[in-house]
Amino acid sequence: MIDEIYTNENIAPEHEPERQFFFIKKMQEIVFAKEQEYRRKLTYHISTFGCQMNFKDSEKLAGVLEEIGFVEVDDEKADFCLYNTCTVRENANSRVYGRLGYLGKLKSRKPDMIIAMCGCMMQEEHVVETIKKSYRFVDIIFGTHNIYKLAELLFTYYVENAEDKKEDSKKSKKKHKMVVDILKGTDRIVEELPSKLKASFKAGINIMFGCNNFCTYCIVPYVRGRERSRKPEDIINEIKDFVSKGVIEVMLLGQNVNSYGKNLDNPISFAELLKQVDEIEGLKRIRFMTSHPKDLSDELIEVMKNSKKVCHHIHLPVQSGSSRLLKKMNRVYTKEDYLKLIDKIRVAIPDIAITTDIIVGFPGETEEDFEETLDVVRYAKYASAFTFIYSKRTGTPAASFPDQVDEATIKERFDRLLKEVNRFSEEYAKSLEGKVMPVLVEERDREVEPDKNYLTGRLDNNLLVHFEGSDDLIGQIIDVKLSECKGFYYIGEKQF
Ligand code: SAH
Ligand code: SF4
Ligand code: F3S
Repeated sequence: MIDEIYTNENIAPEHEPERQFFFIKKMQEIVFAKEQEYRRKLTYHISTFGCQMNFKDSEKLAGVLEEIGFVEVDDEKADFCLYNTCTVRENANSRVYGRLGYLGKLKSRKPDMIIAMCGCMMQEEHVVETIKKSYRFVDIIFGTHNIYKLAELLFTYYVENAEDKKEDSKKSKKKHKMVVDILKGTDRIVEELPSKLKASFKAGINIMFGCNNFCTYCIVPYVRGRERSRKPEDIINEIKDFVSKGVIEVMLLGQNVNSYGKNLDNPISFAELLKQVDEIEGLKRIRFMTSHPKDLSDELIEVMKNSKKVCHHIHLPVQSGSSRLLKKMNRVYTKEDYLKLIDKIRVAIPDIAITTDIIVGFPGETEEDFEETLDVVRYAKYASAFTFIYSKRTGTPAASFPDQVDEATIKERFDRLLKEVNRFSEEYAKSLEGKVMPVLVEERDREVEPDKNYLTGRLDNNLLVHFEGSDDLIGQIIDVKLSECKGFYYIGEKQF
């Protein structure tokens, strides 16, 4: 069995696409031969867990698979099934192990199926060991630093296991070689590989990778590596290319976009990048995620205020309202700093929608600390907030902090927080009822009013509105009246 393959890592990143296109071509030949044998196309399915970064990575992985000749299907009964995993909280891991059990059963009925695992969870040694031991049916494992190598890993898998088959016929013994390739870290950025957009009119754009902040509860810096920014010209060219193909909305992605560009040979600020993106002709909407409160600049607020394209929405994770806990979390701002920042943004952009992330039950959280968090929620009046129960992540400093909070207390606080958060979200949504606002029409609504043949559109502030309209509106920005607020979404009417 080949457990670790480190293939030519020293090649310069600008030559890597060349190498990968070589493997894509090799894979095209293999897939073509299989198509002849099966008399049908080969299929793939990607299940994505976690954040926007992972969804973006999945688009890149899909791009390579389609170039090879695979076609996408909706469920896991595919020839190639890939799980792109997240490990930010323990429950993300449990879900993956649960689903893997199901995949194992599928594979026992369909032995030619290839199962691959990638993403943040695979960057943890204990996870890979568990899979090697208890989920032997998995065929390929790779991490977050080498997703560009998918074609190469697939090719290696086919070659290794095809040789096996020859041996099988002599010895009539079924062997299985798992291909595992995890890089511990990287500073390389590989450009120019194909990617497949989920929707033709909007695209996520990586502006940077990794994170240097090391918030004490968070595993992301360990599984995504050190912060590295893409060159502004590569970002701008990628967006222009997308726009020429019909994209009208982009979301600039980074774990902390506010520190974009600091380590480039020619340093540039995020605000400057945003200004350049704003100038791209044909682009209509710009979003970005995530903004760390510690270094959100006045310059950025100015750019947001003066732009007609940058959405009036900012995701500004607070995590806790207690300055004492914020210090233990290594967030590098106090409650007062955060509230001042909120004031400053609101004065400059009065109609801004502010959203946040909050953790309940961080080690040592007292009732007083928690009350401070509620206080921030009441002050900030968030348009919406993601609330999380603190989850102990192996290897992070907070995992070994002494006074972990007991489950019952956390549950009780979590429920109180949710009630408070929901109260303000509903209040915010209600305040826009009756207004006419531009929405980007995204798809047919299949969930909220499935019988009514509605469309679903997204407002500048990220809220959804469902309304009657024809398919040709999908991918356009149109005015819709928010006739009825239904709590966290609207039923609307298209305006002429
Ligand atoms: N880079 C982003 C967040 C990425 S992770 C930022 O700094 O804002 C998304 C969210 O998951 C975090 O904002 C945090 O609220 C939550 N999170 C991260 N680690 C967690 C943990 N160990 N337990 C509970 N929630 C966690
Ligand atoms: Fe995690 Fe903090 Fe980095 Fe966000 S900024 S990814 S919470 S370490
Ligand atoms: Fe999860 Fe990795 Fe994102 S751990 S939240 S998928 S960066």
